Amino acid sequence: MAKIDFSGRVAIVTGAGAGLGRTYALELASRGAKVVVNDLGGARDGTSSGTSAADQVVEEIKAAGGEAAPSYDSVATMEGGKSIVQTAVDSFGKVDILVNNAGILRDKSFLKTTEEDWDIVIAVHLKGTFCVTQPAFAVMKENKYGRIVNTSSASGLYGNFGQTNYAMAKTGMLGLMHSINVEGAKYNITCNTLAPMAASRLTEDVMPAEILERLSPELVAPLVVYLVSEENQDTNMIFNAGGGWFSRSALLCGSGRLFGDSKNPISAEEIRESWDAITSLKDAKYYPNANDLFVNLEG
Ligand code: NAI
Repeated sequence: MAKIDFSGRVAIVTGAGAGLGRTYALELASRGAKVVVNDLGGARDGTSSGTSAADQVVEEIKAAGGEAAPSYDSVATMEGGKSIVQTAVDSFGKVDILVNNAGILRDKSFLKTTEEDWDIVIAVHLKGTFCVTQPAFAVMKENKYGRIVNTSSASGLYGNFGQTNYAMAKTGMLGLMHSINVEGAKYNITCNTLAPMAASRLTEDVMPAEILERLSPELVAPLVVYLVSEENQDTNMIFNAGGGWFSRSALLCGSGRLFGDSKNPISAEEIRESWDAITSLKDAKYYPNANDLFVNLEG
């Protein structure tokens, strides 16, 4: 089996000072990538900052014979995003791979969620994905090559108690993936989204110990490594990974029912009568972009 090799490639991993991001950074570096290890080094709720988280992972990579540079910027501002990408360009000359992974939590039930809890979670996960991806995309477009992985969550894809802010951020980033795939196609830039499950600081008190034991971050990293490899051309896909289980999720559209026209609009009662056909997911299909849906208007 030919080894997947990243010699000559430059990767940015955000939130790489711990948990999943650290594992991705170590694995990519061990396969020859030069890695920018970005981490704000703060607390789990997004407060405070520090340099030791990123520095430690850079040291680990260097001790194992790899190449890495630290970045302590927050992903949550445009200035921070540009600085993270500039660190890659200044240290290693380009950016080939971006793994948007930085994350925090402010879990509360919906009615208890404050504006501040919403703003900070949206800023790190959703705006942060934009802030780093836009300057990285500019460099990738110039080089006609890029591999991007964004980090969503099953909480966003399927919902979870106490995580409305987080769930909104984690599904909002799907829109970025769908759209930059269309814009990136002619530059060989792919973008996929991962919903991981792993034992980490974020999950240490939300899952039982016996489940966490089965969820080492090393059981997620192989999918990320493959997704950001040159040989993987698949793009615009959502993956679940955790505990050795790997699968794809997708937004599908049912075949529905076509009836009525502008001169003879249908009524709410006719919608009611056709409810089973409209809500059925039998023969549901995946559409690679919004314009492809228009095919359903041809009777
Ligand atoms: P973690 O807390 O171990 O790692 C996240 C890292 O991001 C931390 O080192 C933190 O300092 C850094 N970070 C936080 N805010 C930052 C900012 N503004 N700028 C730069 N770095 C920042 O957590 P874990 O579990 O490894 O999470 C990684 C990603 O995976 C997150 O996006 C998380 O939401 C997502 N995720 C994790 C799941 C799990 O089961 N562990 C489940 C679903 C999603």
